[in-house]
Amino acid sequence: MIRAVLTGTGSALPVRRVSNAELAQEVDTSDEWIVERTGIRFRHIAGPDETTATLARDAASAAIAAAGLSAQDIDLIVLATATPDQTFPATATKVQAMLGIDDCVAFDVAAVCSGFLYAVQVADSMLRTGVHRRALVIGAETFSRILDWQDRTTCVLFGDGAGAIVLEGQESEEADGRGILATRLHADGRHNDLLYVDGGPSTTGTVGKLRMKGREVFRHAVVNLAAVMAESLVIAGLSSEDVDWVVPHQANARILDATARKLGLPPEKVVVTVDQHANTSAASVPLALDTAMRDGRVRAGDIVVLEAMGGGFTWGAAVLRV
Ligand SMILES: CC(C)(COP(=O)(O)OP(=O)(O)OC[C@H]1O[C@@H](n2cnc3c(N)ncnc32)[C@H](O)[C@@H]1OP(=O)(O)O)[C@@H](O)C(=O)NCCC(=O)NCCS
Repeated sequence: MIRAVLTGTGSALPVRRVSNAELAQEVDTSDEWIVERTGIRFRHIAGPDETTATLARDAASAAIAAAGLSAQDIDLIVLATATPDQTFPATATKVQAMLGIDDCVAFDVAAVCSGFLYAVQVADSMLRTGVHRRALVIGAETFSRILDWQDRTTCVLFGDGAGAIVLEGQESEEADGRGILATRLHADGRHNDLLYVDGGPSTTGTVGKLRMKGREVFRHAVVNLAAVMAESLVIAGLSSEDVDWVVPHQANARILDATARKLGLPPEKVVVTVDQHANTSAASVPLALDTAMRDGRVRAGDIVVLEAMGGGFTWGAAVLRV
């Protein structure tokens, strides 16, 4: 049996870091309001030369180096984004060219904030067929480009960034208990109007801006995330006591606290980066995972649960042994 084993992580952030206080000079808001309601203190905002693809390339290069590979070793790129460089071709192919990979399979996945979880399940399935050996799974976004900067209820919540992981297909003996143990995804398209972008190629012919009914999204998020994490643990044959770390989608510190509480997980086991990065949509889980791998919190052998929820709604979780 083949397992998809995590062998490297990387991340990248735009150079410009913006505090709540700086934002409050442009928008009718305050550091106190943002920190109290969301836990967010900073976000990074892409400059003119930074795009989803450049951030993805930098995160991917770091992940490939961490895995001890060279770019040519990669034979599959699955990139999750809701803010592609172009409507087409897929940003994954742009990243492929930037990395100098001559031939591989490369495509984008669109599931907004849970896009990285969708991408992980797709890559895991493709690696387990044995057809592909080494996959780059990337979450990369420049949400600053689709925010309505006049709308204080949304523009303070998001940031730009990218995270990437390398997954390698290994036979069970080589994997030695490591790898993706379970994935579980859901979608419920009836909730389109709670979190969406009011434009698109086939409707308005424009890119559009993000719109959200924050309070309703909040309510659904806690219920759905706790449920899908529990489901993924059952599939993996584990219980919440077995979990060393939860690496959640970083939307709001209150959602993280409430979800962990629902599962009976202590807050010390939850990786929190929302204070530094705000909500970077599909990038948030791999960004947080890379942060926790590099600062030594997540170690070899740990059981880690990834989870996310986003527009659609879509939501999902994955359990892996690092
Ligand atoms: C967005 C969110 C932080 C708002 O918090 P809330 O406690 O629900 O706040 P409300 O929307 O009810 O607004 C409360 C008040 O704050 C005001 N407000 C909204 N944004 C503000 C801001 N940036 N600064 C200051 N005041 C603000 C509102 O106008 C409202 O004022 P009013 O009572 O005078 O009408 C919260 O609903 C949330 O985090 N939702 C989930 C969003 C999310 O994570 N989405 C992504 C999922 S992928």
